[in-house]
Amino acid sequence: MYQKALSNTGFQTIYIDGFAGSGEVPLTEHKDDLFDEDVRVVLAGSADRALGVEPPFSRYVFIDDRRNCIDALKAKFRGNANAAGASYLIGDANAYIPKICSDEQWRGQRGVVLLDPFGSQVEWATIEAIAATKAIDLWYLFPAGLSVFRQISKDGKVDPTHEPSLTRLFGTEDWKTAFLKPSRQHDLFGGPAGQEKTVTPESAAEFMKGRLKTVFAGGVMEEMIPLGKHAYASYYLLFAWGNPSLKASALAKKLSKAALKATDRKHGRIIGH
Ligand SMILES: C[S@@+](CC[C@H](N)C(=O)[O-])C[C@H]1O[C@@H](n2cnc3c(N)ncnc32)[C@H](O)[C@@H]1O
Repeated sequence: MYQKALSNTGFQTIYIDGFAGSGEVPLTEHKDDLFDEDVRVVLAGSADRALGVEPPFSRYVFIDDRRNCIDALKAKFRGNANAAGASYLIGDANAYIPKICSDEQWRGQRGVVLLDPFGSQVEWATIEAIAATKAIDLWYLFPAGLSVFRQISKDGKVDPTHEPSLTRLFGTEDWKTAFLKPSRQHDLFGGPAGQEKTVTPESAAEFMKGRLKTVFAGGVMEEMIPLGKHAYASYYLLFAWGNPSLKASALAKKLSKAALKATDRKHGRIIGH
């Protein structure tokens, strides 16, 4: 939908996959008794899907910090005309993406960034750099359940190594007052009162949505799409766009609606090809 809307507008378009993976997502593995063969069931990964878009993006950038993922992508896309000019970058998305955002010329170019990390790898400074271009649409699989909710224990304790990682994720220490409240109970020995955990995966995602609103000049999708196989959402898919023009907002609304419609809630996955 994005590519159709931007074709014939004269804009070059760039797709940047910050956590590109290997091009496929393993689902299950089982033995086929009839043929005595191992059968792997896989879903097409984000990089593969993006390359299949018609009309294709003008350029593709695939980033992953694991060399074997990038090697797998290169092998998979060899001979794919849409990938002919693609860049394959091995390393930290938090280093590459801000550099691309500041080096590229955005006057005649628009972009889409997908951030699909395993955990709390995305630094707030990366989000700020994306927003500052005012030319990029961001789709962020925010690990609200996995990396925020689960890193804070019931009694409000945060592992000392996780504290700075949460601050890097949100770009502020305000998460402490948003997610914890002073406990009314003193400890058994009459010591100072501790803290209570008030955060839920949903409230963590709401907090990130609020943070995105502070930097994206275009807007942020109000709906958050819960994803994951657990009783709680491991991730919420968030969408923000940097271009403040009316046209960009109208397109963003259409994209938001389409994303909500395409969500297969039963499996917690986006339906694809
Ligand atoms: C959830 S997987 C991505 C799946 C992929 N988007 C797909 O649809 O197939 C996350 C990927 O991020 C990579 N990764 C982890 N930390 C990273 C970082 N700081 N920068 C770039 N890639 C990173 C991992 O190697 C892994 O392949």
